[in-house]
Amino acid sequence: MTSTEPVPGSGPETAPDDRPPSQGGRSALVEEGAGVVEVDPDHSGVHELSCAVTGAPIVIRYADVHKAFGTFKVLRGLNLAIPEGKITAIIGRSGTGKSVTIKHVMGLLRPDRGRIWVGPDELTAMPDRRLRAVRNRFGLVFQNAALFDSMTVFENVAFPLVEHGRDSRAQVRKKVGQLLAQVGLSGSDDKVPSELSGGMRKRVGLARALIRDPAFLFYDEPTTGLDPILAAAMDELIVQTQNARPGITSVVISHDMSAVLRTADKICMIVDGVVLHQGPPSYFVQSTDPLVRQFVEGNVDGPMKV
Ligand SMILES: Nc1ncnc2c1ncn2[C@@H]1O[C@H](COP(=O)(O)OP(=O)(O)O)[C@@H](O)[C@H]1O
Ligand SMILES: [Mg+2]
Repeated sequence: MTSTEPVPGSGPETAPDDRPPSQGGRSALVEEGAGVVEVDPDHSGVHELSCAVTGAPIVIRYADVHKAFGTFKVLRGLNLAIPEGKITAIIGRSGTGKSVTIKHVMGLLRPDRGRIWVGPDELTAMPDRRLRAVRNRFGLVFQNAALFDSMTVFENVAFPLVEHGRDSRAQVRKKVGQLLAQVGLSGSDDKVPSELSGGMRKRVGLARALIRDPAFLFYDEPTTGLDPILAAAMDELIVQTQNARPGITSVVISHDMSAVLRTADKICMIVDGVVLHQGPPSYFVQSTDPLVRQFVEGNVDGPMKV
């Protein structure tokens, strides 16, 4: 699976985390200040590589992804590797491109430049029809839960299955019941979203994201808007959900460092459109880098300006 293709985008004008030069066409582990990162110099595919932070195989990979809206450059050569069967957190300040990053892997946005793989499949080389099939393997828990206000909890959770139309009514009822129990909402089937607390709405959103047994589960700011107790309960539910489905790959987008330190196996920090720091939680706890410290401690003073 080696190719002789040159590494794109390694000019001096691009990201601070540009890959080092090719190392004989083999994947390499490279010390990069921020810790060990995986390097795949010829982009020969994600399936051969394992994650230096968790040891798990890499199942989603972004290589040198650029995305601008008009003249505003959001992603500037993003390299990101998501390990299979683990919880990866993507953190960064508001507006740094976290949601834009996940919209790319769901096929909702196309990069201006760079490549993205899900398993052995390169999304960036796929026609829209095939992208839709890939998208079906993803569950997304939206920041605002994004429930249908006029539908009951049951109908909201069942919606992706009903729309898909493959399951009998009895199967739908059984699956919805199981998932509502798993997220701690048994007996709430007939409530409508306006009768639920913010924390309950997020749980309904999680049950809905799980109903089609996704291979990949993405949470966009799952604890935003919750009080600290409900946020901690949601964090616990993310870990429980992961543990109950060992094959599932979870990605949690957050600006809350203390939350992801409790839950994530790998943390990737986006700064100025690139992953500037990545590692296990212990890396972020111990790092003396002023930017990491400012983020971990939530300081107003530091290299990042308010
Ligand atoms: N479809 C779009 N059109 C124009 N600008 C966008 C679009 N989507 C996102 N942006 C801009 O890109 C930046 C990153 O957005 P986003 O990924 O949502 O940030 P966050 O890290 O908070 O999730 C923001 O400045 C946002 O306004
Ligand atoms: Mg966002």
